[in-house]
Amino acid sequence: MSTPIYQIKNPQAEQKRLEEAARILRQGGLVVFPTETVYGLGGDATNAEAAEKIYAAKGRPSDNPLIVHIADPSDAEKYAFVPPLYRDLAKAFMPGPLTVILPKKDIIPRQTTGGLDTIAVRCPSHPVAHALIQVFGRPIAAPSANLSGKPSPTRIEDVREDMDGRVDLMLDGGPCEIGLESTIVQLREDGSAVLLRPGAVTRDALLCVLPRVEIAPAVTGELEPGQVALSPGMKYRHYAPSSPFVLLDGPEEDILSFLRREQQKGCAVLCYDEEIAELESIRLFPVGPKADLAEQARRLFTRLREADHSGAPVIYGHLPVMDGLGLALYNRMIRAAAHTVRTLP
Ligand code: TXA
Ligand code: MG
Repeated sequence: MSTPIYQIKNPQAEQKRLEEAARILRQGGLVVFPTETVYGLGGDATNAEAAEKIYAAKGRPSDNPLIVHIADPSDAEKYAFVPPLYRDLAKAFMPGPLTVILPKKDIIPRQTTGGLDTIAVRCPSHPVAHALIQVFGRPIAAPSANLSGKPSPTRIEDVREDMDGRVDLMLDGGPCEIGLESTIVQLREDGSAVLLRPGAVTRDALLCVLPRVEIAPAVTGELEPGQVALSPGMKYRHYAPSSPFVLLDGPEEDILSFLRREQQKGCAVLCYDEEIAELESIRLFPVGPKADLAEQARRLFTRLREADHSGAPVIYGHLPVMDGLGLALYNRMIRAAAHTVRTLP
């Protein structure tokens, strides 16, 4: 059966629909909702059975913990032990695309946290997400609303492709503003902070608040066999198209001549807007101007899905520079490419 979709343009004017969504959550059901990063697949964070349903709907291993979404940054105190640095981070970045890992309190079941004794909290800034959590009156556990292993959905069409018939309701809030999942930072009891997943809140921005921010090795590198990921999500293959995805590095002219040759063989290309005129238009998927990382972040996942649908035997993209928002692009793309980089010439 196909899942109903409600378009929510103005949450204030559409209280009835939000109340219906909240009722579904109270009964242990699943509701997809928009956030400023990507769409989330929500369930009651205090209900162990709802958490299990989320794992089943995504086809996700149940040791991969869920993010708990709250309406107000101070609500974290109900579910976690909160150090002073959390309050500083909240003041600077919440509501917004930042998730903080803290030691958890018992009210949140272990199913929600994948068996861990820490909890990921995030206070989204999207008005529909915020209104839904508020009307529901409890925290919402939500991973990205994609099938496990697929790129996160940033438009309702992408959500439908993966989740139609697997959830009780979908709220359509239009395309997501940021397009990449939230930054995840873990605050340890000794006051140290580790960046587990880069996002729109960059490392430099975090360093305005935190004295030191270590980058977890899995952010840029491949885990060695037997090495433990600090964030369980990092050990799984992710964001992966079904055709091989290869990242190109080297001088622009060499990349363009390589791509022109490969286009004869039917490859798909995630190109910069400036390259559109230089390449064949078939199976060309522009991600934005070369210097506009925010636009590339917004379009990346949708373009990857489109490139995958094109049936190309191989997909090429540019290796991003690991700076600012580029670190988040690098992290997502290097994993989608299973760390395959081709250096030219
Ligand atoms: O932007 C986002 O964060 C989106 C929207 C929907 O809020 N959510 C999202 O959730 O990306 P998900 O489940 O796709 O990614 C959550 C990541 C996973 O890699 C998971 O392993 C990690 O957060 N995580 C959750 N709880 C954790 C914990 N207690 N310790 C370490 N990592 C945790
Ligand atoms: Mg995800």
